[in-house]
Amino acid sequence: MIPQETIEQIREAADIVQIIGEYLRLKKRGKNYLAICPFHTEKTPSFNVSPDKQIFHCFGCGKGGNLFTFLMEHEKMSFVEAVKYAAQKTNITIAEDKQSDYKKDLVDKLNFANTTAVEYFQKVLHASKYKSILEKYLKTTRAITTEAIEHFKLGLAGEEWDGFINYADKKDISTDILDKAGLVLYSEKTRKHFDRFRQRLMIPIMNLSGRPIAFGGRTLKKGEMAKYMNSPETTLYNKSNVLYGLNLAKDYIRDSNTVYIVEGYFDVISLWQIGIKNVVASSGTAFTQQQARLLARFAETAYLFFDSDSAGRTAALRSVDSLYDAGLEVKIIQPIAGEDPDTIAKKYGKEKIDELTNYAIGFIQFRVVDIDIESSGIIGKEKLIKEFASIGLKISDPTRRTLFFADAAERLNTSPQIFLQTNIKVDNSQDIVASQQKGHNKNEINLLSLLSTNPSNVETVFEKISPDDFDSKKLSRFYSALIQQYKEIGKIDINIMLDNTSDVEFTNLISMIGTKQWDEERIENEIGDSILHIIRDKRKKIIKKLKLELPLAEADGNQQRADEILAEIKSLSKHA
Ligand code: CTP
Ligand code: MN
Repeated sequence: MIPQETIEQIREAADIVQIIGEYLRLKKRGKNYLAICPFHTEKTPSFNVSPDKQIFHCFGCGKGGNLFTFLMEHEKMSFVEAVKYAAQKTNITIAEDKQSDYKKDLVDKLNFANTTAVEYFQKVLHASKYKSILEKYLKTTRAITTEAIEHFKLGLAGEEWDGFINYADKKDISTDILDKAGLVLYSEKTRKHFDRFRQRLMIPIMNLSGRPIAFGGRTLKKGEMAKYMNSPETTLYNKSNVLYGLNLAKDYIRDSNTVYIVEGYFDVISLWQIGIKNVVASSGTAFTQQQARLLARFAETAYLFFDSDSAGRTAALRSVDSLYDAGLEVKIIQPIAGEDPDTIAKKYGKEKIDELTNYAIGFIQFRVVDIDIESSGIIGKEKLIKEFASIGLKISDPTRRTLFFADAAERLNTSPQIFLQTNIKVDNSQDIVASQQKGHNKNEINLLSLLSTNPSNVETVFEKISPDDFDSKKLSRFYSALIQQYKEIGKIDINIMLDNTSDVEFTNLISMIGTKQWDEERIENEIGDSILHIIRDKRKKIIKKLKLELPLAEADGNQQRADEILAEIKSLSKHA
């Protein structure tokens, strides 16, 4: 256990804006920062980070919390890991606690299994037994440098059936965990587990923090059916939101505001070797919305740099939609026949790739040339009009959208209006900013939010309003928690509250309320207003109830009760 004081000290020293800023493109808006939410798909940013309160909240999907919540959710860290990570960022040392159950929960165990696997595969690659694979195959035939082997943590799965299982066993990693990490397979015949990866060059796939979460294994055998064997999806690895190489490339992508998207692991590695480092690989799968949105957090322009074969072309086309949808400008690099980025890098070097980049064409031009409207006539034109309309309508920036249609119209020799008349359904559900405040009483939300600024008149508020005065049960529970906290520590600090709850719904509610911005000078007045409104609402509610009860009392012939009710209504109405 890390003491609460240390946790607070770390949270205070670590800046949530800076740390979240390493993962998302934050733009200042008022006191807060805004970004495209990493937890759901959206086009207009509703992910708020509050530097004052050191919390975040997305008004689109409702997720929120503090720095630790973010690291836990986004980077799949455990609470302890998140605290340690932030500590390391702030140079605060936490006394290493021997008793701490470091590998306690599943995520920790899976992380440990994967890290151990990387370490094992690296050892095997450098074992004398496999010297020729390292020297001949990897360094010579594939021309991978020693630095790249290190940088990408490449390894080797050897011939044995249980080499890794045995290695992991010595580190006390159970077969069950290896199974959950996708590192072993089970044989019905021998009734035993065996290493999933054998006789393969191992390429670790990392998450954004550089933690290994999966592997790609390239066969060493010629003519092997499966050129690649990849890890299955696990608790840590969700294929559709990972891009190979992003952890290593993200700073370069952000700095250059551009990203190269290639197909293969080796394309990434080869480009890195010649100094092109803003590269990620889609790894041969259909490019997903999540992957596109992930990139949109770091860059504005994407260069699709795919293999020259028809599979590469199809993959490029399939990616365009989601890239535009995510707000990226898409350029297509015309491949050299018979080559992929890997071989271009090796045969022709960086200059050639810079040149290809300069000649990269926009998606519209690419399609017009591709479809060859001169010869395909009206059919080809119609197809493209529909295609461009569908993509263009997904561009959320109005200027960019107009330019897109103007360009498309010019190239198809038609008018921009035609794209708007093609009757294509647009999904703008995300544009309607969902408000979680709906369904909650606004005054109650306001009061809680104002209290979370830790104003000077907290005690007065507590005297005037009791948790029972709240209409919403959830908000009432929050209010009780604030009173409790104030009693215990003499101040209100929603961050401490966040550290001490594991209830996701409550966490999201706290962050939503805490993210609301207030004008410092108006806080006291606003508190007064919300109190008045809450009391008035409560009175109105009672009056309503009494009015319903009145005819019942009269029907019962209970005149005394009826009179009481009338008197009560009268007295309450005076104030209402
Ligand atoms: N891929 C895969 N499974 C396959 C084939 C391909 O997962 N059976 C993925 C891999 O991520 C691979 C990418 O698709 O890196 C591109 O495939 P390909 O061009 O065939 O592989 P390269 O990476 O170019 O491999 P190599 O250079 O060794 O041929
Ligand atoms: Mn390839």
